[in-house]
Amino acid sequence: MKIRKAVIPCAGLGTRFLPATKATPKEMLPIVDVPMIQHIVEEAVASGIQDIVIITGRNKDSIVDHFDYSFEIESTLDKKGKSDLADISRRIAKLCNIMTIRQKNPMGLGHAVLCAEPIIGDEPFAVLLGDDLIDAKIPCTRQLIDVAEREKASVVGVMEVAERDVSKYGIVGGDKVDGRLTRVKTLVEKPAPNEAPSRLAIPGRYVLMPSIFEVLRNTKPGKGGEIQLTDGLKSLAEKEKLFAYAFDGTRYDTGDRLGYIDATLAYALKRPELAADVRALMKKHLGGQG
Ligand code: UTP
Repeated sequence: MKIRKAVIPCAGLGTRFLPATKATPKEMLPIVDVPMIQHIVEEAVASGIQDIVIITGRNKDSIVDHFDYSFEIESTLDKKGKSDLADISRRIAKLCNIMTIRQKNPMGLGHAVLCAEPIIGDEPFAVLLGDDLIDAKIPCTRQLIDVAEREKASVVGVMEVAERDVSKYGIVGGDKVDGRLTRVKTLVEKPAPNEAPSRLAIPGRYVLMPSIFEVLRNTKPGKGGEIQLTDGLKSLAEKEKLFAYAFDGTRYDTGDRLGYIDATLAYALKRPELAADVRALMKKHLGGQG
């Protein structure tokens, strides 16, 4: 079993980030100087995937353009003797194969994944959400692929969250296999803390068997009137093996303003050419404290 394709759903409206997302896709907002979506695509590529299906919608064309050559910028920079800058642009176009499918109405994450079926076909595949950043030594998707290939089953990436935060996520319940692995028996989308089967939350990384498509076709709209991937996974777990893997890495919810600021600071501090100046700026804004 080899996982060769990834699906990145990017068709959501990004309403938590208005007005920035009125005419600009949320996925194109930069973390320092790299658009969120590039970080996500690079994670998939570093996990061994070359064929990437982006689920797009209206006003999202710039996402696809970002992964193509930008002839005007590149030739202008070459003529000015700034080929190193031109190469930054060209490298992105060479990263992988990008395919797109439109989700004409944002009917939910489950529906967005189902839209990818004509390209994915009868193969297992990875799903990476376009607004969740995971900083990890071994890319999170690679960690999940290793488990999926070993267990020959679908795997969702999970992380432990505080009790007050369970209502923000899909939460899994099941039997622990070892320190990181759980055999999933149930899933609940955004439960109240007293209804959560555990504190293991799904932030936005999955490796799924193609059997998920049949399940999603039969999944009725759930929370928010949307076809929820979590509800589809619950039905999948009733039919076949599904695992949750507590991945190693730091996750940032970059679709949320505070998560976005958190990621921006963390990634800026990792850049050697910026770190000292960013620290000085932070001190200035804190009035000398910190
Ligand atoms: P979110 O709910 O976090 O994103 O969906 P959103 O809908 O864009 O944002 P808000 O809540 O209005 O601020 C998680 C991911 O699933 C995609 C989104 O683009 C995002 O990457 N998604 C969501 C779709 O592709 N289609 C949908 O119908 C819903």
